[in-house]
Amino acid sequence: MEKREQLYEGKAKKVFLTDDPDLLIVSYKDDATAFDGQKKGTIVGKGAINNRMTNHIFRLLEKEGVPTHLVEELNDRETLVKKVEIVPLEVIIRNFSAGSFAKKLGMEEGIKLACPTLEFSYKNDDLHDPFINSYYALALNLATQEEIDTITKYAFTVNKVLREYFAGLGIELIDFKIEFGRYHGQIILADEVSPDTCRLWDKETHEKLDKDRFRRDLGNVEDAYQEVFRRLGIQ
Ligand code: TMP
Repeated sequence: MEKREQLYEGKAKKVFLTDDPDLLIVSYKDDATAFDGQKKGTIVGKGAINNRMTNHIFRLLEKEGVPTHLVEELNDRETLVKKVEIVPLEVIIRNFSAGSFAKKLGMEEGIKLACPTLEFSYKNDDLHDPFINSYYALALNLATQEEIDTITKYAFTVNKVLREYFAGLGIELIDFKIEFGRYHGQIILADEVSPDTCRLWDKETHEKLDKDRFRRDLGNVEDAYQEVFRRLGIQ
């Protein structure tokens, strides 16, 4: 597959065209940002870890009936994916209180919720990804009702599969954010699943093994990403 010109550069990935109009190459960077890009840094080795971890998890999810954009891992940092039109919704599932949820509700972090929650943010950096509900999504033509239903169904399946999978690695899946795209009219999982986009706590010690170490200046950021990767047991 021939890599052509760069289509887009995001905060954590670059995207390249290929000679197939249906396929793109994503290239994961070591760059890290937080708070809408106000905080910038580098997490050495992150690009390769997030690339390989996302692909490993997407293969697992495909087996469980969640279609994804994954086509083929090309090398440590690059993957061939289906070219989707991203649905401009950040889909967030929470199993425990943390982050903006804990802050908004005046809760401490790490309280188990009575059931998993799902929320949407409108993917718009200028507006700081505001929290919206499905009625806003419909009113703003961000997605159809059928798409929202499919996204909701897949998101809860992703949660069930990943919660069990991470539990087997001694990791509690606190919360995560995923994104979906449209590919020839079908909704499929796109973007990434990595310590950048999930809160992952060691089940025993509750040590944070995710990007909160970078966001909150907790130190040992690289070690945390490597520890998650090591537990995945990817050869
Ligand atoms: P929040 O508690 O800050 O709303 O974050 C919820 C989840 O979404 C958490 O796992 C981190 C992830 N997340 C992203 O992937 N990208 C973002 O820009 C933000 C703010 C959160």
